[in-house]
Amino acid sequence: MKINKLTIRGCGFAYRELGHGIPWVFIHGFPLDHRMWLPVAERMQTAVRAIVPDLRGFGQSEATPGIVTMADFADDLAGLLDALRIRQPAVICGLSMGGYIAFEFWFRHTERVAGLVLCDTRAAADTPEMAQHRQATAERVLQEGPAFLAEAMLPRLLSRVSFQQQPELAQQLRQQIEGANPAGVAAAARGMAQRRDMQPVLSQITCPTLVLVGSQDVISPPSEMRAIAHAIPNAHFVEIPDAGHLAPVENPGLVTAVFLEFLDQVASPEKE
Ligand code: MLT
Repeated sequence: MKINKLTIRGCGFAYRELGHGIPWVFIHGFPLDHRMWLPVAERMQTAVRAIVPDLRGFGQSEATPGIVTMADFADDLAGLLDALRIRQPAVICGLSMGGYIAFEFWFRHTERVAGLVLCDTRAAADTPEMAQHRQATAERVLQEGPAFLAEAMLPRLLSRVSFQQQPELAQQLRQQIEGANPAGVAAAARGMAQRRDMQPVLSQITCPTLVLVGSQDVISPPSEMRAIAHAIPNAHFVEIPDAGHLAPVENPGLVTAVFLEFLDQVASPEKE
């Protein structure tokens, strides 16, 4: 499967495109890249036009130094849809940091959203302590590279069951994290520290919305995600058993089934 390249808003972007149908944008988490979504995107390509980008500064997309805000990432994605001449509303689907970006995309480009899929993410902004920790992470990754992040994050990304039954996943994730561009990781960490609190606007999200979480997610736990679903009118809440923070990576088969069911509601919202 070939990776495509485009220049958007002055930055070189890499993305994959699979299948035909309603556009569905898959937004990866931090500090990963588009590959985390491929097992799901490949399964969905008979039903959707899957757009699977590397965000600015990740994977094979160029980094811009300094800070990249969630608004920057969201506008990059709108630029990607423009460049692909996709005018019809798309399903915007993000995991964790990808979820922060999906929220921001909805906020800034509401009319372009056919449906919102929020996976293992948070609506709240960072506390001052979290924001400070992210600044320290940004400094450290610039000084010594991203390997320490793999050590710190891996035990929290996958559930115990996934670690035991799919040891190759940890290896793949380690490769993605260790191969990440320090400038891109630092810029996104600073951007996440500044992200807005979406909780006050959740009640204004009226498009079909799916909120999905791994039952063992310790970063964005099911209780917090259930509260997000509760605050969004008519959102569907789904818990993926035995999965952690990367539910779509850990159980792509079940997550795809849930997404395809959700797609039915996007196509005919009167089924609600
Ligand atoms: C992610 O998976 O994208 C990160 O856990 C997000 C974060 O650090 O808040």
